[in-house]
Amino acid sequence: MRITDTSDLWWKTAVVYCLDVEVYLDSDGDGVGDLQGLALRLDYLAELGVTCLWLMPFYPTPDLDDGYDVSDFYGVDPRLGTHGDLVEVIRTANDRGMRVIVDLIVNHTSDRHPWFRSALRSVDSPYRDYYVWREDPPPADEPNEVFPGEVDGMWEKDERSGQWYLHSFYAHQPDLNIGNPKVRDEIAKTIGFWLQLGVSGFRVDAVPYFLEAPLGDVQDGHRLLRDLRRFLQRRSPEAVLLGEVNLPYDEQMKYFGGDDADELTMQFDFVGMQAIYLALARHDPAPLVKALRERPRLAVEAQWANFLRNHDELTLDKLSESERAEVFEAFAPDESQRVYGRGITRRLPPMLGGDPRRVRMAYSLLLTLPGTPVLFYGEEIGMGENPDVPGREAVRTPMQWSSRKNGGFSDVAPSRLVATPPAGGYAPQHVNVADQVEDPDSLLCFVQRLIARYHRSPEIGWGELAILDPGDAAPAVLAHSLRADVGRMVALHNFSDEPAVAQFVLDDEPDGVRLSDLLGPGEVSVGDRREVEVELEAYGFRWFRVARPGDGRLG
Ligand code: NOJ
Repeated sequence: MRITDTSDLWWKTAVVYCLDVEVYLDSDGDGVGDLQGLALRLDYLAELGVTCLWLMPFYPTPDLDDGYDVSDFYGVDPRLGTHGDLVEVIRTANDRGMRVIVDLIVNHTSDRHPWFRSALRSVDSPYRDYYVWREDPPPADEPNEVFPGEVDGMWEKDERSGQWYLHSFYAHQPDLNIGNPKVRDEIAKTIGFWLQLGVSGFRVDAVPYFLEAPLGDVQDGHRLLRDLRRFLQRRSPEAVLLGEVNLPYDEQMKYFGGDDADELTMQFDFVGMQAIYLALARHDPAPLVKALRERPRLAVEAQWANFLRNHDELTLDKLSESERAEVFEAFAPDESQRVYGRGITRRLPPMLGGDPRRVRMAYSLLLTLPGTPVLFYGEEIGMGENPDVPGREAVRTPMQWSSRKNGGFSDVAPSRLVATPPAGGYAPQHVNVADQVEDPDSLLCFVQRLIARYHRSPEIGWGELAILDPGDAAPAVLAHSLRADVGRMVALHNFSDEPAVAQFVLDDEPDGVRLSDLLGPGEVSVGDRREVEVELEAYGFRWFRVARPGDGRLG
């Protein structure tokens, strides 16, 4: 790779920041965040080092699934603003060096979508076949695997026709029939529409459900994904599809399009994310090492998206039952902190007991894992969840801007807020942007520094991973290096609450090689046989540039 390749394949070295406009900043005092509010915070995001905003659904919606129940694929929720406001956000973000991607939710519509309303009116409706129907009753004991205990089965009866429609998620989210060419055209048109407004791609919701409707043919689904990718790239060569595919790695490869890499551009690494939590719980990086070793190599254009938290439950579904029990025990000891038998409804800092060493180690790790980091809004300041709010909503509280009323999110009476900030130690009085911006030792300034170093280290997004042996005196240390044509970096992370001394060898490096510290001043000496010794504090971490004579890189 050349350094100039990083601009063509921008997503491989991006910092993605996911936010929900509804809870980011309320500019008009109605208790709901809005696009004009977001526009006021674009400079904040640029300063943090974000290069790609992922806007969660902002479409018209009855809002029964936080906007993932869309009633108009081409609209903007009037509570959040207008198409004009959105274009202003995109344009200003672009000016500040940030691209914008948006959610593409085409597995289903809301049951209030005009297509579904028409489909319900008559079996002869031109929209009836936009959805998936069955004549015979579904098996009585069929569970809903997405929302067990909350939703019964996957089929809902339409009393008027006596038929049943498919809903992989809530009953108010009827699945679209991707076997219908008109639905396929509509999906492509939706993609084309938002591209035309200036977005740089899509976070594609629930991809396996979308492609693998029980009545459909999976291969046909993959054909559709390839068609959509071709269409996307015809309309915008720089645009990406970042897919939500929570499947084992070998399955995920199919969604990248295998060796042809002609389906999704990026996918979240759910397996790696879950391994991180197991590793944190055990104070032992081994589960993460295993995941990284098993993670398939990708084609040059494709990329993994790494994350620690998102807007949903922290799913642990890819762990074994006993591993899941370990993570529950460590990070969600109370039953009220768990959901669906597989997930945790907390944010990272409370799970780690608020220990700043561990929290910082976790973000340092995130930023050095091979791939592209994705932050969920508020992670940069260490926001906690609101434990009084049940289920997935607990982590969807308003952004905490200051210690003022409602955390500076909105001026309304607290009873009119779209969501309630937490009380206690994670309340806006104690955790907010305004205080942290002023404090060079804050988590916010720390994350900002990490991101700046990440931007200087394109080998993180592009490089070849090597797991180094940190020696017997550092059993809980993950030592890894990333090597690309532009150079190499080494990162060390101590998962233990005991200090450690890591000793490793940097093979294949030339005479005169140095290890310069990327997070502080100075360097570490490299011995004649390229051996290195580094001390780490409890939960300590270090980043080093492998500086080769004459390579011309800045620290
Ligand atoms: C995945 C989204 O992340 C989740 O929040 C939503 O409920 C489902 N897809 C259904 O759209």
